[in-house]
Amino acid sequence: MKYLTRNFNYFTKLGVKGPRPLPIFGNLWERLFTSLPELDIKWQRKYGKIYGVYDGNEPILMVTDPELIKHILVKDFHIFQDRFPVSKSNNHPIIGKMLTELRGDDWKRVRSVTTPVFTSVKLKAMYPTVRESAEGFATTLDKYAKDKGVINAKDLFGCYTMDVISNCGFAIKSDAFKDPNNPFVVNGEVIIEVPVWKLLLPEFALNILNIKTFLNEKSVTFFSPIVRQILKIREKSKTKSNDFIDLMMSVRHEANCIDDGEEESGIEKKILNIKASNKFITEDEMIAQGFIFFAAGNVTANNTMAFCSYELALNPEVQQKLYEEVMSSLDTNGEIDYEVLTKLAYLDAVIAETLRLHTPTIKVGRNAIQDYPLADTGITIPKGQIIQIPIYAIHYSEEYYPNPEEFIPDRFLPENRHNIMPYTYLPFSAGPRNCIGMRFALMEMKVGLAHIIRRFKFVRSPQTEVPVTIVKNIPLKCAKSLTVGIESRVY
Ligand code: HEM
Repeated sequence: MKYLTRNFNYFTKLGVKGPRPLPIFGNLWERLFTSLPELDIKWQRKYGKIYGVYDGNEPILMVTDPELIKHILVKDFHIFQDRFPVSKSNNHPIIGKMLTELRGDDWKRVRSVTTPVFTSVKLKAMYPTVRESAEGFATTLDKYAKDKGVINAKDLFGCYTMDVISNCGFAIKSDAFKDPNNPFVVNGEVIIEVPVWKLLLPEFALNILNIKTFLNEKSVTFFSPIVRQILKIREKSKTKSNDFIDLMMSVRHEANCIDDGEEESGIEKKILNIKASNKFITEDEMIAQGFIFFAAGNVTANNTMAFCSYELALNPEVQQKLYEEVMSSLDTNGEIDYEVLTKLAYLDAVIAETLRLHTPTIKVGRNAIQDYPLADTGITIPKGQIIQIPIYAIHYSEEYYPNPEEFIPDRFLPENRHNIMPYTYLPFSAGPRNCIGMRFALMEMKVGLAHIIRRFKFVRSPQTEVPVTIVKNIPLKCAKSLTVGIESRVY
């Protein structure tokens, strides 16, 4: 069998170093003892900017060199357009159609239809809805501040991000923060819960066992009928909701309108410039996008906000500076205007530094569609080679971030940003296949944080675990649980 006879000298022949693999499991076994972020940091420090690991029988080339990253994600995008299946889901009837899984022309077509859902104009129109969720959330936090003095930040922020995504995505008022057992919250939480044994299984065993996805199928069966039902109702009704579903339905036949500047978006425009007649999206594809917006949008933003509250509790001087900036931006009605919010430099820096230190997506991957010489390294990778960029480890590199373990938002202030080397800060990745929900995520996190910080103070409580224990074996950085103290501000 190819699997058992695989020659683990693949990388040695290519002249690439890396940790020693074990038969059958390659380097996967190390995940049993060490979390993914820690493993990547350890390997990057030991083996440098290019190294090889074996994911079971699959050789993965790890690249952390910024110039090479630029080539892979942006300049030579046509060669690295495809991700390898993140969740082994390409056979699943719905999950296999999510943007994260699609390949080739199907990805181009669906991305070109969904990109206009997230333009600045459409995000601005969603601002009042997000603000409404933030206000409801602050009212809930008030009770915790008065009654308990502590919050389980991971659970509660999860309720906020779920409320925002269900409101903006599907015009469903989940009011999740009123009831943490709300089925939306429960099913949103478990989407990425994968039993370890599944992750450790090699490809052939997954096929034999007919395992079609690494995502939790129960949550797929919960969300899919809901989205299908919404689609049916919308097809018949004439009412507009300005949510993701309506926007996807209406942009199906619109011209592309991507409104970024600079080199990256030039390439993105070229890549997504497909014929209007080829621009369509099927019902199953819409359901799949509805599902991935729930899945990708919830856990990532939830954990970022929870880690942010944790860092603010541990760094009171940062929290005070943020509080002062937010208070100085209120208008006469005590509100923050959308334009003002997007320009708050310290709020932006606090979130950016949280996303550096606690970046949710540990790595991104690409698959080469042809042989490719890796710049001047002397290495030519063969067609089909999987490349991974360990974002988390890059964010912890001393070379790019002095004192990388410390929370220092000032790194991201406008006057210091030029010190950050391009392609070393990648929480949303880069290039035409970067995170489609980036601006939406930043908006929801900024609105949420600005609303909370003006009314509450996060403090370190005896129950705050330092450092936080993170969940092993999933491809995201997630806290196991995260408790911080909370006090109401008197004003
Ligand atoms: C803090 C919040 C978030 C972070 C850190 C994050 C990060 C990422 C990263 C690193 C990728 C992989 C990009 C690549 O392979 O180059 C990605 C892809 C993606 N994200 Fe996000 N994300 C966040 C929130 C969201 C939200 C709110 C949505 C939707 C509403 C979303 C939807 C997606 C989708 C659909 C993809 C796949 C894009 C494609 O393959 O074309 N994400 N995200």
